[in-house]
Amino acid sequence: MSRYTVKPPAEAQHRVSFAVMALVMAVALLLTGFLSSKPMRVTVDGRSCSVPPGSRLSDLVTAGIAQSAAGNLIGVDGSVAKRGGGAPASFTLNGRPAPSQTRLYGSDVVESATGANLQEAVITTDVAIPFQVREEGRGPLSELRALGAPGVRRVTLGEVSGIEITSTVVMEPSDMVIGFARPVNGKFVVLTFDDGPYPTYTAGVLRVLKDYDVHATFFMLGLQVRRNPGLARQVVAEGHTVGNHTYSHKKLAKLPPAKIRWEIKKGREAIYKATGVNTRWTRPPYGSMGGKVWRQLSAQRLRVALWDVDSRDWKKPGARKIAASVLKHTKPGSVIIMHDGGGNRRQTVRALEIIIPQLKRRGYTFVTLDQLDEMRREDRAAAAAKRRAPSKASGAQPGGSSKRES
Ligand code: NI
Repeated sequence: MSRYTVKPPAEAQHRVSFAVMALVMAVALLLTGFLSSKPMRVTVDGRSCSVPPGSRLSDLVTAGIAQSAAGNLIGVDGSVAKRGGGAPASFTLNGRPAPSQTRLYGSDVVESATGANLQEAVITTDVAIPFQVREEGRGPLSELRALGAPGVRRVTLGEVSGIEITSTVVMEPSDMVIGFARPVNGKFVVLTFDDGPYPTYTAGVLRVLKDYDVHATFFMLGLQVRRNPGLARQVVAEGHTVGNHTYSHKKLAKLPPAKIRWEIKKGREAIYKATGVNTRWTRPPYGSMGGKVWRQLSAQRLRVALWDVDSRDWKKPGARKIAASVLKHTKPGSVIIMHDGGGNRRQTVRALEIIIPQLKRRGYTFVTLDQLDEMRREDRAAAAAKRRAPSKASGAQPGGSSKRES
């Protein structure tokens, strides 16, 4: 009926051709993808094998296909310092040398060669030689006679293997020397009391000392001084010597240097604040010493008094037993350790009432560490004077000293 044939609109025609093109492209892409993901056949070191597409020569080594690998790093002693640490494996590709990053294509022919061995580098370094702590002499008083210094050893060694080739001592270490000494000749004895001041017991000890007109040395804890400043002052007022037993009674040798310094300094400061005495006498808790502790003590110019007679009063075996043990071990120049703090010290006070009169009967004189120091100084001065003028000792004139030969 109609005179007109119905034409599809132009847009619709375009749509159809687009769809066809897209389909063709998708198929093409899929095909290339399929083809490119297919393993390639290559010949490596005479053997045919397949490798993933996109492989490089270096991948043949990692995949274990190539017969050769990197060379080794050879140590200074000739042994292998690091397997595979030498030059990398080298390749020829289709008869020509090729870098390891070269890409492989199907039917390539590869020959691999093991990389060269390399010699490890030699380095020179300085190593510290630790110094020793040496003790000289015997006795309860100790002093630092030499600070000690580490030595230096120059070493050449393999950088990787760490094997030493040469070792030369550039500087010898010098020992730290700690001298121990008996205080002075003569029948002197030093009573020392640790861990106070402590209510009741410090006062008890002071009362007994006063009764017998005897002076002693008190190694106080900074913490206790802060708690009982009045007792600390009383000790000083009654003529006794005060020493520093650190601030809080830690084992110094186990602390880091900064903490050791703090313990010593704070103890001393607390004593100074309460009593006005700037003591240099120090007794590390538990007698815990060692190089680190000595360094700090020496930096603060302090002196150490340990003991040679330990009353072990802190074990509380009874006043008689404490006294008997002290009396048994005391000899001229002894430093006796007892405690006026750290617990119930009633036995200590009672033992003291036995010890003092007994030692007095035996002819001992009780001195404090300060008095002992004074006596030592006098002894030394007298000895020095004697050395300077051995023959003219009696006829030496006071004014002639400047003309003497040294
Ligand atoms: Ni103590």
